[in-house]
Amino acid sequence: MAIREILIIGDPILTRKAEPVDRVDEDIVRLAEDMVETVHAAPGLGLAAPQVGVGKRLIVVDLSVGERKDDLIVLVNPEVVTKEGEVICEEGCLSVPEIREKVARPCRVIVHGLDLKGERVEVEGEDLLARVLCHEADHLDGILFIEKLSALKRRLIKKKFKKNAASGKKA
Ligand code: NI
Repeated sequence: MAIREILIIGDPILTRKAEPVDRVDEDIVRLAEDMVETVHAAPGLGLAAPQVGVGKRLIVVDLSVGERKDDLIVLVNPEVVTKEGEVICEEGCLSVPEIREKVARPCRVIVHGLDLKGERVEVEGEDLLARVLCHEADHLDGILFIEKLSALKRRLIKKKFKKNAASGKKA
């Protein structure tokens, strides 16, 4: 396992739609393991493959950040099939460091996908888990959470990161 570099807003991979995984092979398993190590080290609650520079539909979510084995969710080709309710809460993203903003997300979701054995699984999430699942699924469609903010807020955040990139500062 290895910790991978997390890409920061401004990198084009983050705004590209990721490709479906055709086969859950060794490379995908290794990628998932690296993503788990990376999100635990960050630390963060979830990570999507495009954030480590891989344009594949794969997410990892762990609300316990490595504390409870049963909390770890790895989903290949996740699809949010049910969304219920709406709750507005602050969220952030490892690819948009130090920014936290209020975003509306469903209260409850059902997500279908494959596990690392290539078997179909269904994950049900409420509250924070629903939020993180939706956030990570959005990454696979090239959508960062700041796209859900007002145009003004979004512009200010993008400007801030552009400035950091131009001055060679690591955000
Ligand atoms: Ni994110």
